[in-house]
Amino acid sequence: MIGGYGRGADILNGVTLDVELGEIAVIVGPNGAGKSTAMKAVFGMLNIHTGSVVFDGEDITRLSPQARVAKGMGFVPQTHNIFASMSVEENLEMGAFLRRDDYRDTMAQVYDLFPILKEKRHQHAGELSGGQRQQVAVGRALMTKPKLLMLDEPTAGVSPIVMDELFDRIIEVARTGISILMVEQNARQALEIAHKGYVLVQGANGYTGSGKELLANPDVRKSFLGG
Ligand SMILES: Nc1ncnc2c1ncn2[C@@H]1O[C@H](COP(=O)(O)OP(=O)(O)O)[C@@H](O)[C@H]1O
Ligand SMILES: [Mg+2]
Repeated sequence: MIGGYGRGADILNGVTLDVELGEIAVIVGPNGAGKSTAMKAVFGMLNIHTGSVVFDGEDITRLSPQARVAKGMGFVPQTHNIFASMSVEENLEMGAFLRRDDYRDTMAQVYDLFPILKEKRHQHAGELSGGQRQQVAVGRALMTKPKLLMLDEPTAGVSPIVMDELFDRIIEVARTGISILMVEQNARQALEIAHKGYVLVQGANGYTGSGKELLANPDVRKSFLGG
């Protein structure tokens, strides 16, 4: 993918990402590297002038984000990813708004995955802790029944314990056959659970490998993992 915002300069200078079914792929890299931009490009929120996005064997490069949701992409953006003045349950219902079928089973699955959300289902989402709000955001995306779940820094601003807990839930989601494409600042911990890792540098692939390979790579360690 090569492209940027509006008529501005290119932010993505050649990013290639690939996620297989049920796999966890993690994107790491310095601030401003274009990680969020790459996620938005995959989701159809900015125009790439070179390259393509293929989903489930189909070229979807020209589809709107809404059409991509209908195809099975769920996206949790880095910021503004919940409706703070709505209840937890209303947030989940918003996730299901494109669906024509009965979504109660999916809601029950989300509550099984995140029991605290069931307890707090009538509270305003904005009143919850940071980790719980991220659970609402992930739950809302799961309500679309995605084949691919895209998460932009799901553990931003949460404690290490809550981070571990969220990662465990993400592994659980992947085990149900949903693919995960995730951007993470907690690079070391995220690569530990990644089947595949990408280090983005200045809008392009810097290093690519399995999570284990990247964790063992001396250059990656020195430059991006703090030694
Ligand atoms: N909406 C936008 N319009 C114009 N430029 C943007 C926008 N969002 C991000 N950028 C620019 O794109 C570059 C990459 O940003 P971003 O993808 O958010 O990086 P990362 O997520 O890796 O920290 C930065 O230079 C940033 O200023
Ligand atoms: Mg970002």
